[in-house]
Amino acid sequence: MSLQSIKKRNDSPIAVFDSGVGGVSVLRALLEEMPNENYWYYGDSANAPYGTKSLEEVRRLTVSHVDRFIAEGAKAVVVACNTATSAAVRYLRQKYPEVPMIGIEPALKPAVYSGGYPNVVVMATPMTLREEKFHNLMDRYIGMAHIIPLPCPGLMEYIEHGNIHSMELEQFLERLFEPFEKHKLDAVVLGCTHYPFVSMELQKVLGENVMLFEGGPGTARETKRRLANAGLLGDCQRKGIVTFDNSEQSDEKKNLCRKLLNMPIHIRQDKQVDGVKQIKHVL
Ligand code: DGL
Repeated sequence: MSLQSIKKRNDSPIAVFDSGVGGVSVLRALLEEMPNENYWYYGDSANAPYGTKSLEEVRRLTVSHVDRFIAEGAKAVVVACNTATSAAVRYLRQKYPEVPMIGIEPALKPAVYSGGYPNVVVMATPMTLREEKFHNLMDRYIGMAHIIPLPCPGLMEYIEHGNIHSMELEQFLERLFEPFEKHKLDAVVLGCTHYPFVSMELQKVLGENVMLFEGGPGTARETKRRLANAGLLGDCQRKGIVTFDNSEQSDEKKNLCRKLLNMPIHIRQDKQVDGVKQIKHVL
């Protein structure tokens, strides 16, 4: 799709941004919620991972990408990266008050509100868990559940390299959860957009009674609300176009994004809790 060829503002693409291929888990939810929109997916794989960088570096990278999306005509921006959201979304909303700017945060709310999950682990990058945004989020639910932050440096690299089923990955996840008595864990929040792609492996390691929560579906619903409020919902009758773009020059990441988007995923949507779907992966 040539961005210049899109004239009507409501048909302009929604830019979906991540440090790499992980934001495709959010794109999947967006397509489910709004199949007729056009999307411009941009992964900054050349600079990934973001989660082990400094706040200043992640903010600088995120702002420079978003500046370009807006200059090239995106009608809204979804920062489909928990790390980049913590670093830059507040600043970006001030810089572009007229552009719907949607971020993502670990899906702690549905995990806590659904009840019956007293011990909740939040898997995320070291930066997401270190930042004020996460501490504020955790403070909101303290007392309602035992919330255990689990930084996962090194995990996104597996997904970034397309390694989503392997013995090596399974061993990595085993080591990550070694300090826990797994039978005492009730829920795991996937607080990084890369992690839903290894949910099958995770479920294998954790056992099938542990509930997994991801932030993509909530972010997609919020995006739809924000576009509707701004009068920017697309009015196309046909299916939208998805364009993949990446800071790495080769086609490898773009092809991986396509593969991840089309990968059959085994999710069961259990029930609505507080307006939010609980999801569980079935082996
Ligand atoms: N996908 C990103 C997130 O949701 C993080 C991966 C990274 O470390 O770059 O936080």
